[in-house]
Amino acid sequence: MTDQRTDPEQRIAIVTGGGRGIGAAVGRRLARDGMAVALVDLRQEDADAAAAEITAAGGRAVGVAADVSDEESVAGAVGRVEAELGAPTVLVNNAGILRDNLLFKMSVDDWDAVLGVHLRGAFLMSRAVQKHQVDQGWGRIVNLSSSSALGNRGQANYSAAKAGMQGFTKTLAIELGPFGVTVNAIAPGFIETAMIAQTAERMKVPLETFLTEAAKQIAVRRVGQPDDVAAAAAYFCSEEAGYVSGQVLYVAGGPLS
Ligand SMILES: NC(=O)c1ccc[n+]([C@@H]2O[C@H](COP(=O)([O-])OP(=O)(O)OC[C@H]3O[C@@H](n4cnc5c(N)ncnc54)[C@H](O)[C@@H]3O)[C@@H](O)[C@H]2O)c1
Repeated sequence: MTDQRTDPEQRIAIVTGGGRGIGAAVGRRLARDGMAVALVDLRQEDADAAAAEITAAGGRAVGVAADVSDEESVAGAVGRVEAELGAPTVLVNNAGILRDNLLFKMSVDDWDAVLGVHLRGAFLMSRAVQKHQVDQGWGRIVNLSSSSALGNRGQANYSAAKAGMQGFTKTLAIELGPFGVTVNAIAPGFIETAMIAQTAERMKVPLETFLTEAAKQIAVRRVGQPDDVAAAAAYFCSEEAGYVSGQVLYVAGGPLS
């Protein structure tokens, strides 16, 4: 068994939703920091494309197709990572979807789909990976929350899920701390990805206008980029962050919380 506790170069990370956006940026960053990275996403070709970018830059990566909200799919994905790279000890629960609507128009499917990917997905992935973390006596889990956890019109499902991620994070930090595992959350504000493009479309605002107007409301006067979130994830996954656990870091260009 490789010793991931003492040898950072042996560490193996899983990033869910790693096929694009924030997840792909986190994957690139963790690979740059010396980890082997498995990018888990719904479509094999998206996961492969993100992995290819990492290997082209000299890193180690594989793409794995899986639906994080499905128990069997998660077991298969984590098994594949173990077989192809080794036992994963770093997990970034990043996969996410939006099904925005005002409460009176929100369907049960909209509710279940969002809670299913974010909360059930993070639960299933964390439960599958913790076994390897406990075996190794070392690990890192980073959960993607959101500034929407504080409330956001049209996002009853999403904000409930993202607030849930914070409670989930704090509880796992307590349960897994004795085994050398830290668990933290990142709550991004406005980050320029396909998810934002989807919101602009729903609000019938041209993307450029949406970005410019959003930047005016943010203290640092710019919208965030996936690399802003990746930098925070890299910190939580680092050796130096071993005494930081159960925390929620808002990466939002201003003091949201
Ligand atoms: N973009 C933002 O402004 C913002 C702000 C706060 C939080 N976040 C959170 O950050 C995370 C990443 O967001 P993003 O902006 O990069 O979004 P994105 O839509 O660009 O990427 C999300 C990825 O997750 C994948 N995914 C969705 N459902 C999945 C499932 N069931 N199983 C596996 N993969 C699945 C998608 O295929 C996609 O590749 C999400 O959890 C999101 O809620 C984003």
